[in-house]
Amino acid sequence: MAATSEAIVQVLCSAGANISRMGLCPNKSNLLVSRNHGLGYRRKKGSRHKSYNMISAFHGGSNVSDRFRSLSCNCSKLDSVTDKSSEKRDSFLKGELSTNGNGTFSSTLQIGGMSSLEDEAWELLRASMVYYCDHPVGTIAANDPSDSSILNYDQVFIRDFIPSGIAFLLKGEYDIVRNFILHTLQLQSWEKTMDCHSPGQGLMPASFKVRTVPLDGDDSATEDILDPDFGEAAIGRVAPVDSGLWWIILLRAYGKCTGDLSVQERVDVQTGIKMILKLCLADGFDMFPTLLVTDGSCMIDRRMGIHGHPLEIQALFYSALLSAREMLTREDASADLITALNNRLVALSFHVREYYWIDMRKLNEIYRYKTEEYSYDAVNKFNIYPDQIPPWLVEWMPNKGGYMIGNLQPAHMDFRFFSLGNLWSIVSSLATNDQSHAILDLYETKWADLVGGMPLKICYPALEGQEWRIITGSDPKNTPWSYHNGGSWPTLLWQLTVASIKMNRPEIAERAVKVAERRISRDKWPEYYDTKSARFIGKQARLFQTWSIAGYVVAKQLLDNPEAAKILVNVEDSELVNAFSCMISANPRRKRSRKGIKQSFII
Ligand code: GLC
Repeated sequence: MAATSEAIVQVLCSAGANISRMGLCPNKSNLLVSRNHGLGYRRKKGSRHKSYNMISAFHGGSNVSDRFRSLSCNCSKLDSVTDKSSEKRDSFLKGELSTNGNGTFSSTLQIGGMSSLEDEAWELLRASMVYYCDHPVGTIAANDPSDSSILNYDQVFIRDFIPSGIAFLLKGEYDIVRNFILHTLQLQSWEKTMDCHSPGQGLMPASFKVRTVPLDGDDSATEDILDPDFGEAAIGRVAPVDSGLWWIILLRAYGKCTGDLSVQERVDVQTGIKMILKLCLADGFDMFPTLLVTDGSCMIDRRMGIHGHPLEIQALFYSALLSAREMLTREDASADLITALNNRLVALSFHVREYYWIDMRKLNEIYRYKTEEYSYDAVNKFNIYPDQIPPWLVEWMPNKGGYMIGNLQPAHMDFRFFSLGNLWSIVSSLATNDQSHAILDLYETKWADLVGGMPLKICYPALEGQEWRIITGSDPKNTPWSYHNGGSWPTLLWQLTVASIKMNRPEIAERAVKVAERRISRDKWPEYYDTKSARFIGKQARLFQTWSIAGYVVAKQLLDNPEAAKILVNVEDSELVNAFSCMISANPRRKRSRKGIKQSFII
């Protein structure tokens, strides 16, 4: 009986979500529909944590609310799942934690009395949980009681939730991750516009907020709504390209960790994966296989001169492509999509490994580049002028070690070192085995610069003077060695841990964790640190920043159980390696005239 109703619910859910997609996909004809929208759960006032009795939608119009009603099964389905996290939450509700008005809970625990740093981190992580319809759906970005200007730090950010989600998965608390995956999937189908323009279908929001609002026409009832932000309200109006990529990576990790493949196999989830892929694989004007994005489209979400083809996005893109290929079911994936995906994987790995990589040998090669080569077999394909090599790099590049540069464009190499892109290149196997070791060698050789007083530098070095003025637009938050401009972000600890475990060098992460442990709790888990060697808590850093807390928790969990890192790692694909070596040996002229390849990229 249970199995049958579960199956029916599953079918209804899938159908419902698809219907909602049809109704809510950006559609030029409903561009002027008000942005007053949300998935809603109604409840009587005063019954904050009691069960809700119906679902309603704010869109109005019978068709639309019918579509929303079809999502109610989704809620019933989610409702039927209980696990340790909801039990824990119940105990929080009995008094150990109190609500802070954001659907999250404030810790009343005495931090000084905690048995260990990890226990403290777990208490804070649980205190950051956000509930929708009485079920955990994510974690708030920062839970800093002393902060009066919360901006959008009271929202659940997709990228920030990834370490939280991994921490919960590794703890065996699957419910919150499953709910997060399914609810953000529903948000993917929202209509979203900025000044009458809609971005492409498949975009995942940067963040969402759970709002509790009075229900129209009924004083005694309120409802929860999920209100997404696709960048239309974000500072700088940046589109979060990384959100969908992280969503795919988390979905795969969920399946690998729980062994429950039913989530990734759902029709609506398969559709969600395909929508993200279609958006990323769409033909454009670009000659490169790397993904072309605007400034601020990832963790660095404000102007920092990373528009174009930033490494972070390429590494996440590669990881998401590999993960999606693993998860797409044969019935759902069209042959065309798989072909496009495979072609892109090969071209992307060749391009990044070949042209983003620098070490002493490559730097010396660039130093002697000839320019203005008009030909198919140019050595200096992107017409890089050797004068671009920055003076700091000439001194900084060690004899042992190397890294992927931050960005590559015609006549432009951004030589800055970006931690997340380099670490995720290791994790996703976008970097070769030798390159991966060389990146970790660099961390060891340049420990004072890249780790210093708090792991890890987001990028190195900082932009200063005139360069800072021009590139950041004189951004006072991104002054040299602060925030995104050479600041140090504790959350990056978890990515360092996955990368060093993958390369069988966990001692690197262990050393970095020890550095963090010296002060992270005393400093109240800041969002970021300032100065060249991370001596100060960031000028405008939030305290009790959830992904700083979760990043530490995940690093500890993985160091205790290195095998678990497999849920995040993409192993080198032997088919790709073969295709890759064919490419290196192929004549560029012959390659251009190959038949049957729809897109031709510069590789
Ligand atoms: C800042 C960070 C961004 C993060 C957000 C929430 O905007 O730049 O990466 O997602 O805060 O923590």
